[in-house]
Amino acid sequence: MPFPNIDPIPLPAPVWLFKVLHMVTLSLHFVAVNLLIGGLLLATVWNLVAKSKKAQAEAAKAIAIRLPIVMTYVINLGVPPLLFAQVLYGRALYTSSILIGLYWIGVILLLMFGYYLLYQVAKRAEEGKTWWWLSLVSLLVISYIARIYTANMTLMLRPEVWLEMYRSSAIGAQMPTGDPTVLPRWLMMMVSSLTLTGVAVTVLAASSKSLSLEAKNLLRSWGAAVALICLIAEAAIGLWLWQVQPAKVVELLLGSKYLYGVYLWWGSLLLLALLVIWTKLREGALPAAVSALAAVVSVSAAVVLRDGIRDMTLLVKGLDVWQQPVVSSWSVVALFLGLFIAGLAVVGWMISLAIGVARKGVEQNV
Ligand code: HEM
Repeated sequence: MPFPNIDPIPLPAPVWLFKVLHMVTLSLHFVAVNLLIGGLLLATVWNLVAKSKKAQAEAAKAIAIRLPIVMTYVINLGVPPLLFAQVLYGRALYTSSILIGLYWIGVILLLMFGYYLLYQVAKRAEEGKTWWWLSLVSLLVISYIARIYTANMTLMLRPEVWLEMYRSSAIGAQMPTGDPTVLPRWLMMMVSSLTLTGVAVTVLAASSKSLSLEAKNLLRSWGAAVALICLIAEAAIGLWLWQVQPAKVVELLLGSKYLYGVYLWWGSLLLLALLVIWTKLREGALPAAVSALAAVVSVSAAVVLRDGIRDMTLLVKGLDVWQQPVVSSWSVVALFLGLFIAGLAVVGWMISLAIGVARKGVEQNV
């Protein structure tokens, strides 16, 4: 058994509950990560060409000033799934985190630097100065953080390489090599970021009261085009990812309930492609809003599939996540759920207040 011993303290709630909470909160984290990476990419390109093109300048600014807020969501929505993942998969996840320890701790410094750059970008955007080189550096830093996350989440599935890695660097000054799933997995995150952001900017175009007509047209038609192209790329990377999974993992996945996740993911890609074409052809809030909903479903389907790949891979290697001692403490669970729902309601209230304030500001300017 290559995994460390099981924690002597039993789980305080059933495995299924932790899994549901993990998938819900991780979907929210992924939506925020996608908006951050995709937003940085689009805004950087548009600011780069902005000198000669007014609509691009306006669109780039509209995205740039929102990115620091998106980053707060990336971080805050990352904490809950990290806690749930540690509860469920601690024996694998703690080990892989230690094996790449220097890089893992380095995430904090990289995060602070990338975040600082976002504030600089937003400030320069407000002042009407160019900033694409700053957002480009931030994009590179943040993409590298994503790369470190992918390294950790895949290394936790490979107990067979742990001992050798520990022998070669006990302080974790190394990144794992030789895993064919890493590149397509990281690329999938990058490309799906552009898909979701493409859809999100069509929502921005449909809902903004302050943007010019040219900027709105640019956001809608380019947003939809980018989303459509990236959906095709996502399908290709999906096939690649599937093909590099070990045969036993694929067999177990197809024989389990996760098969519905496969259907849901492919179905959501297809539906989203049709909705995005509708958004490109027709102005208005409805196509953009429905597409956004489908895009979030697609992210959640990817989270479910990813969960299946992890569980089946660990099962093949001897760890069954469902076989853990559980002593449910329902009063604590009820308290947690109450606070969790109240927290979500407060966040929703904050967002609605922020939108109200922004609208008032726009009306006053008019
Ligand atoms: C700019 C900052 C961040 C980026 C770009 C980012 C990106 C990513 C990516 C790409 C993955 C998927 C990796 C994979 O499975 O291939 C991921 C997973 C995850 N991230 Fe983030 N992340 C960021 C910050 C954070 C922070 C600050 C936290 C927590 C405090 C966090 C918590 C998580 C968790 C818990 C997972 C998945 C764990 C699991 O597999 O169950 N992330 N992140």
